[in-house]
This record gives sequence, structure tokens and C-alpha cells, in this order.
Amino acid sequence: MAQIGQDIIKAKELLEDGKLVAIPTETVYGLAANALNPEAALEIFRVKQRPAFDPLIAHTDSLEKVEKFAREIPEKAQILAKHFWPGPLTILFDKQSIIPDIVTSGLDRVAVRIPSHQLTLDLLKSIDFPLAAPSANPFGYVSPTEAKHVNDNLGEKIPYILDGGSCEIGLESTIVGFENDETIIYRLGGMSLDQIQDLIGDVKININKSSNPKAPGMLKSHYAPSIPVRIINLKEDYSLYDPNSTGVISFKEFVPGIPEDNQFVLSESGDLGEAARNLFKALRTFEEKPIKLLITELLPEKGLGLAINDRLKRAAASA
Ligand code: TXA
Ligand code: MG
Repeated sequence: MAQIGQDIIKAKELLEDGKLVAIPTETVYGLAANALNPEAALEIFRVKQRPAFDPLIAHTDSLEKVEKFAREIPEKAQILAKHFWPGPLTILFDKQSIIPDIVTSGLDRVAVRIPSHQLTLDLLKSIDFPLAAPSANPFGYVSPTEAKHVNDNLGEKIPYILDGGSCEIGLESTIVGFENDETIIYRLGGMSLDQIQDLIGDVKININKSSNPKAPGMLKSHYAPSIPVRIINLKEDYSLYDPNSTGVISFKEFVPGIPEDNQFVLSESGDLGEAARNLFKALRTFEEKPIKLLITELLPEKGLGLAINDRLKRAAASA
């Protein structure tokens, strides 16, 4: 198993040596390597069993550092970065050649994010290279929101997990980019659409191009636990399912007739932020129980509800 701790110097030394370290962020835990070292980046793909066509996000701690690997910072990107970084927003920039092709899967753009987590910001401040970091889970599986999740899935394959507690947001970052004069959202995530549109006006959403995706995290089936997930109208149809082998994830309240031990309520008070924080943990909880099918409902289509529903639909797509 990996060593788990809060030793930034140890993390820094491992990363400088081309090794992988799991890092906490406010969204989900990342599996980090030196983004300027192609060998180290390749190791991320091996450990995650991630296809080479799925590019990585480069994490750093200041806009000055971004200027070293983005060719140009469009005005709207400046505005977004100034308002929302550090935070759950990833921005695509035309890349400079210092970023190896393996990081961007050969694409001309590099995805960049300044994460909002003090431990990881301190680590980023102490190194002179960006960290390439996808979510620290095997490809296609549920993202980790606690150090334990990382250790359960990848502990055998990596030397160190920087433990920053439970992730505050719990959903991956929203991904935004610019094509011609349009602002495009490629992945819904922890930064809500409203927050972005209030600041820079209308955006276009382009999240479902699954045949030749520009953002492969958007493959139709993703974020899936090993138990099949089905989205139903919980209030009406739960009674069709076997109470002993069915797990339930609901928004606000338990459904009658199924043992509460087999249920996970995302937020009793109906708070979408709390629901987001709990979602991936909920999907993982049932792996340890004698559950054969997970049933769940969609949440209100507003704020973080949009990103939560996106993840639920992708978890259900492989069932
Ligand atoms: O919140 C997050 O974004 C987390 C934390 C660790 O920062 N990271 C994360 O990484 O979710 P990952 O690899 O699981 O998802 C990143 C997605 C890729 O699947 C891809 O869809 C998109 O970002 N992406 C990365 N680079 C891209 C690029 N150059 N062009 C288009 N999409 C890109
Ligand atoms: Mg991922």
C-alpha cells in the first residue's frame, strides 16, 4: 500500500524524481506527475490504464506560471481566471512546445487549472514545473474524494498519497475553452454554468461528442462503479426492486420498503453542494455491500444539479 501523509517535501522529492504522487484538490484527488517530463506523464497512463487519447490537466499555482506554457491568454480566459482561480475550473489554452505531446494526447491545446487546496498550492509553489494530474482512479471508475479511495484503487502502484482530507466540492472541474469567438463548455463540473455565464455571458455546451471526443472524459460511459446503476423515478418505482439486493441513492429522503442500510441520502436538507460532495462516496459505498443493482433518481436541473445528473447518467450508461 502507498504511504499516506502530509509531507510536502517528500511529495516534492518524489515528483522531482519522476515518480507519481496522489494530491488532494477541492474537486477530487489527482494522480500527479511532472508535466514537463514525458516519462513521468507516461507512467500516469500506465497506472490508470488510461487510453493515450485522453489528455491530462496541468495544475499550477499562478497565472504568471501559466504564461510559460500557454501561447496566449484570451481576454475571457483572463476574466475567468481572475475570478475563479484557485477553483474548480479548467481552461484550455493553445500550448507552447514546452508541454510534451503526451500530456495533451497530441492536441494543440493544453488544459490548465489552479486548484484550491492549501496543501497542494504549497506543493505547487515549491516546484518549478506544472503537475499533470487526472483524477486518481482507474480509467472509467468513480473519482476519489478521500485519500482512502485512492489507496483502495491505486495504493499498490504509487509510493505516496498526500492526504488533504475529504474534497470540498466532490465533482471534477468544469472545463471551458474558446473556439473562434465562442466560449464552449466541454465538461460540466464543480463550477456551475450560472457562475460562468453571469461573468462572461452566454456559453455553448458541447459535452456529448462521444465518437471522437475532444474531451474524452466525456465518453458516454464513465464514472461507473462495478455495480450496475439504473436511473428511475424513485418515488413511484422503487417497489419493483428486490429490497435485499438493491441499493438506493436518493436526493433528500429514504424510500420506504428498502433497509436504510442499503440506502444513501445525498442531502437531507436538499442542498446541491452537499449532494455533490457526497455523490462519489455514495457510489463507492455499495461496493462493500451485497448489492447487485443501484437505483437512483435525477436531481433538480439547476446549479450543481446539472453536473451531478451528468455523472449519474454516465455511471448508468455502462449498466
Ligand atoms: O477536477 C479535476 O479536473 C480533476 C482534478 C485532479 O484536477 N482532474 C480530472 O482529470 O478530472 P481527468 O483526467 O480525470 O479529466 C480531465 C479531462 C480529460 O478526460 C479530457 O476530457 C479533458 O480533461 N482534457 C484534458 N486536456 C484536454 C485538452 N487538451 N483538450 C480537451 N480536453 C482535455
Ligand atoms: Mg477522471
